[in-house]
Amino acid sequence: MANERMRQVWKLGADGWVAHRDLFEAELGGFTDVVLDAVKPGPDDRVLDVGCGTGALVERATEHGAAGVGVDISPGMIEAAAALVPAASFVVADAQTDDLTPLGPFTAIVSRFGVMFFDDPVAAFTNIRRAASPEAALAFVCWRGIDENPMFTLGTNVLLDRLDPKPEPPAPDAPGPAAFADPVRVKSILEMSGWSEVNVTGVDVVCDYGLTGSDGVEERLTMILNTMGGRIAREQLEPQLGPEGWLALLNDVRAELRSNLVDGHVKFTGATWLVTARNPADQGNDVR
Ligand SMILES: C[S@@+](CC[C@H](N)C(=O)[O-])C[C@H]1O[C@@H](n2cnc3c(N)ncnc32)[C@H](O)[C@@H]1O
Repeated sequence: MANERMRQVWKLGADGWVAHRDLFEAELGGFTDVVLDAVKPGPDDRVLDVGCGTGALVERATEHGAAGVGVDISPGMIEAAAALVPAASFVVADAQTDDLTPLGPFTAIVSRFGVMFFDDPVAAFTNIRRAASPEAALAFVCWRGIDENPMFTLGTNVLLDRLDPKPEPPAPDAPGPAAFADPVRVKSILEMSGWSEVNVTGVDVVCDYGLTGSDGVEERLTMILNTMGGRIAREQLEPQLGPEGWLALLNDVRAELRSNLVDGHVKFTGATWLVTARNPADQGNDVR
C-alpha cells in the first residue's frame, strides 16, 4: 500500500505530538501566519489543511471566518484535532490516494510541514488539486536542507551516534522532513501535478524553545525524544544501557544543547520554503 512506512511512522508519532502539542506549537507557531498570509482566508473560503496534525493551522483559518477541513493519515492526530478544534472538521485520509473531492471543493489548500511524506508527490498534488475549485490558492511551508536546519541534528546526533549500526542518512528525495529541500524539484512536482503560478520563496523564522522563561533545554529534549530518530534511539538504547546509562546519555544531549544556547535559550532559525501556486481556471484536469 502507498505511504505504508509513513503511515506507521505517524501512527506511532501521534501520541508524542498530541501530548506535547504546546511544545510543537511553540516551535512551529511562527509559520502559521506565513502560510495563511499567502492565501488570506475569509468567510467565503473553504480551506483544506493537508497533513493537519493536531489542527492548529486550520484552527487559525476558521478564526478568519473560513470553513476548515483537516485531513491526516494518522488517526491519533485526527482524533486529537477533532477534540481540540471543534470549529473545523477532520477526516483520516491519505492525501495521495484517498478521494478528497467529497470534502470540497476548496478555495484554498494549505499545509504546515504536512506534504513532504508522499511516496509519489506528483500523484498526491494531482489528487489534492482535484478537490480544489478553479483558481484555488495553494500555500505550504516545507523545510530547506537538513544542513540549513541545525534543529534536526543538534542533540539528536548524540543519540544517533550511539546506535549500532548507525542509521544511513535518507536519500535526498525520500519521503521525510527534508524531501522538498530542492526548490527546483518542488516546482517541477507542482507543475507536473497541474498547478500554475508556482512560486518557491525562502522564509526564515526563529524557533525559540525558551519562551516560558527556561533555557529551553528540557523542552527541546522532550521534542527530540518524540521525533522519529529519538524514538528509535530510545527503543534500542534504553534497554541496552539500563536506567543509569540511558540517563547519562540524556545528560550528554542536555550538555550538547546547553553548549549551543543563543541569548541563553535553545534557539534555531527554521529555514523553510514558502511554496505558493494556483489551480488553473480551466482546472487542467487532463494532466494525469
Ligand atoms: C510534521 S507533521 C505536521 C503536522 C501539522 N501540519 C502541524 O504543523 O502541526 C506532518 C503531518 O503530515 C501527516 N501526513 C504524512 N503523510 C500523509 C499523507 N499521505 N496524507 C495525509 N497526511 C499525511 C502526518 O500524519 C503528520 O500529522
